[in-house]
Amino acid sequence: MSGTVVPRLVAAVSEQRQWDRLMEMARLGAFTGVDGSPGVNRPCLSPLDREARRLLIGWGMAIGLTPSIDALGNLFLRHEGQDPGLAPVLTGSHMDSQPAGGRFDGIWGVLAGLEAIQALREAGITPRRPIELVAWTNEEGGRFAPGCMGSMAYAGHSKPDTWDAVTDGEGIRFGDALREQLLLEADLPRRPLGVVDGPAPHAYVEAHIEQGPRLESEGFDIGIVTGIQGSRWFLVEIIGESAHAGTAPLSTRRDAVQDMLRAITALNALMDDPTDILRFTVARIEVQPNSSNSVAERVRFTIDFRHPSAAVLAQRGDAIEATIRGAVQRCEVVVTERFHALPVDFAPLVTGAVARASAAQGLKALRMPSGAFHDAQFMVPLCPSGMIFVPSRKGISHNPAEYSSPAQLAAGARVLAQVVAELAES
Ligand code: GLV
Ligand code: MN
Ligand code: MN
Repeated sequence: MSGTVVPRLVAAVSEQRQWDRLMEMARLGAFTGVDGSPGVNRPCLSPLDREARRLLIGWGMAIGLTPSIDALGNLFLRHEGQDPGLAPVLTGSHMDSQPAGGRFDGIWGVLAGLEAIQALREAGITPRRPIELVAWTNEEGGRFAPGCMGSMAYAGHSKPDTWDAVTDGEGIRFGDALREQLLLEADLPRRPLGVVDGPAPHAYVEAHIEQGPRLESEGFDIGIVTGIQGSRWFLVEIIGESAHAGTAPLSTRRDAVQDMLRAITALNALMDDPTDILRFTVARIEVQPNSSNSVAERVRFTIDFRHPSAAVLAQRGDAIEATIRGAVQRCEVVVTERFHALPVDFAPLVTGAVARASAAQGLKALRMPSGAFHDAQFMVPLCPSGMIFVPSRKGISHNPAEYSSPAQLAAGARVLAQVVAELAES
């Protein structure tokens, strides 16, 4: 069926059903942003996350899909193929959100996968290979850092207990939150953990909102994602000594905030990039004791550094710790790297299928890289992988104002349906 529209498959994708499900999901964690936009705060492994998963499982089971979960809580819904023994095509994304997130990041990719599979079933198409819908655990890293834990463990990139001791803002350990979730979902069949204990998928394709402005501003319907830039996350701790703001002379202070400012200034110089390709972000800062008349004794801040070149990612990323140590004057420093995702290129098997489906459906498609990281990054070593983007209004994301229209999302789901159908026959 390469390159040709299967009219009954494309017609079976329902814009309304997909939108209604998205809006129902958006109620779980709904809040109103400062500008009045309808945001979502649905942290991973939270009661809200579990409610969302139950909703998804209910929708999947109602159309005949079989649920299962693995040791990281990754959730799967399987559409059986003509030959159940063949490696499945995997499609999906994540259901957790940023703390002040929108209604589309992640969850749309999961619901688009469900829509695509439901359309296949309604069109009476049973492909050769099984198709599995996946909702990865903790892609965002908003509650427990870093993100992509579920896919990293599935891919054997990191051991499943790597993050057990990571704590959220309330001191809850990831390992404990995961154990609680697995207990509360003990009624779901357990499956082996990814390629650690099982076979690799045949292919992986993830639908996602673009989260940038290109598709909208350049007038395209679909992004054929060619790859993802690399990302490195660091946690920096600067340890000084608290003192009285009114009495301690500046000359004797070990002020963690002042040394943090020196460190960030030096990092800005390290990360200077006249081409404006490099991305460098310090966005989370915790100060202790966080009192206006006590000198700060401890600061923790995060670094998110990204670049499409593995060489730049290595050179500048490896220089971060020395740069900080060279800049601070009075305090101790601890630098911990907690995420390292290499840049990846997606496979022609998947990018070609996305291009063919878009062309066959009369959609304008742009080949483009992703600036955001995604679980798809960790599937690349396992199987031919790729992504489908749809436009994001004004490129806004990780923000309650995030928006893609029902029609744009339906177009993405139609392309996904055709891509998944093609891959499941290959
Ligand atoms: C994913 O949410 C990212 O930060 O790129
Ligand atoms: Mn996402
Ligand atoms: Mn995100």
